[in-house]
Amino acid sequence: MRALLFASVLALPALLPAQDIVLPDGKAKTLIENTCTECHGLDTVVSNTMSADKWRSTVNSMVKKGATLSAAEIDTVVDYLSVYFSEEKVNVNTAGPQELQDGLKLTADEAKAVLQYRKTNGAFKDLEGMKKVPGLDAKKLDAKKDNIIF
Ligand code: HEC
Repeated sequence: MRALLFASVLALPALLPAQDIVLPDGKAKTLIENTCTECHGLDTVVSNTMSADKWRSTVNSMVKKGATLSAAEIDTVVDYLSVYFSEEKVNVNTAGPQELQDGLKLTADEAKAVLQYRKTNGAFKDLEGMKKVPGLDAKKLDAKKDNIIF
């Protein structure tokens, strides 16, 4: 899979999402990188936030479509996705504009500024780093700090 992914990276640069997606470290990271990219990109996975129940039914439906995961692996993947891509939490390093607006109550311009800054400077490491985004209201970040993950 890795070799295949590499080959397609060389062959189809135009089809890659704008930003490289780096999943948070965790037990299911490699599993998801390998298994969940067979039919669509990681962007399809990380652009969603759901409750644990919804993640379970989504992952089950992916297995029905053809994702090869054992029952134990399904549990691992669901646990991981429910923590890092939960309904309430916003991963500011993978979130798209709509998720930033909905989850953190940012304006469209603020969300755009976050994406632009992330593209230029790489992943955010902490709240202080995020406050450097020009035009972003730091008070909004403070208000939502428990919902932000990096
Ligand atoms: C056998 C092919 C296949 C594999 C493997 C696969 N998916 Fe999917 N997935 C699909 C298809 C088809 C769709 C719907 C169309 C699309 O978005 O490309 C989809 C859509 C999604 C969506 C969007 C919401 C939805 O339900 O339509 C999420 C989230 C998702 N997949 C997560 C995962 C995760 C997590 C994994 C790994 C456990 C995974 N997928 C593995 C085929 C697959």
